[in-house]
Amino acid sequence: MNDFRSRALKPSWSNFDGFNSPQQQGEKRPELTKTIDVSIARIKLPTFNFEYLDVYNAIKNRRSVRKYQDGKISLEVLSYLLYATQGIEDPSKPFYRSVPSAGARHAIETYVYCDRVEDLKKGLYLYLPLEHALVVVHQNDINVLDEMEYFTFGAPCTFMWTAIPYRMEWRYAHCSEKLILLDAGHICQNLYLACESIGFGTCAVGAYDQDVLDKFMEVDGENEFLIYAAPVGLK
Ligand SMILES: Cc1cc2nc3c(=O)[nH]c(=O)nc-3n(C[C@H](O)[C@H](O)[C@H](O)COP(=O)(O)O)c2cc1C
Repeated sequence: MNDFRSRALKPSWSNFDGFNSPQQQGEKRPELTKTIDVSIARIKLPTFNFEYLDVYNAIKNRRSVRKYQDGKISLEVLSYLLYATQGIEDPSKPFYRSVPSAGARHAIETYVYCDRVEDLKKGLYLYLPLEHALVVVHQNDINVLDEMEYFTFGAPCTFMWTAIPYRMEWRYAHCSEKLILLDAGHICQNLYLACESIGFGTCAVGAYDQDVLDKFMEVDGENEFLIYAAPVGLK
């Protein structure tokens, strides 16, 4: 076996009852979403209605796209793509979303860096799936960071997903890393197919400067950190 292979990819599931997870120790269930103070202004996302390409053709045509048209994307498009990646149908059941998640733990948060989105100032926004709304994180410009063209490819907006590992660890202890990464794959694939269904394109991005981007996102890099990203734009 080489030195790169991590045990995280094949954790042992034997003796689940003896995982000694925080849940088994009686620790409180972590919140399924970040709690944002009610005094912080929400940007409600609009309803959407498009002529969608069917799933078969979306699967067939999907490719990673790294070049996008100039111009802004609409809030309606962003609303659809956020719904496709984390949407909740029934707010009384926030663990059932448009994507599956191991044990319905949903340890991934969605942020969107908006460069050219109609009605939104340039900046980083956090998506609140329960409210189908955004809140401003900050209005700094990502493009001033070194080599950002290899991260956003100059896209009108970029999805940025963080992990909050404890949400998964609370139940699955040492198996959590693998499960969080599998969850991230589902989210990004939904984004690919949803983009394709309305003539947009995206590209999964797993390579970036961790420290620089965690700092940009104002997350602590330990309890929450960037794990995946995807610029989005019109093809
Ligand atoms: C987990 C993952 C990480 C990736 N990271 C990057 C990346 O950092 N930069 C990039 O340009 N493309 C990245 N890609 C896109 C792949 O290069 C692309 O999927 C692959 O070349 C196949 O092309 P296709 O998606 O058009 O089928 C990533 C894809 C996946 C699934």
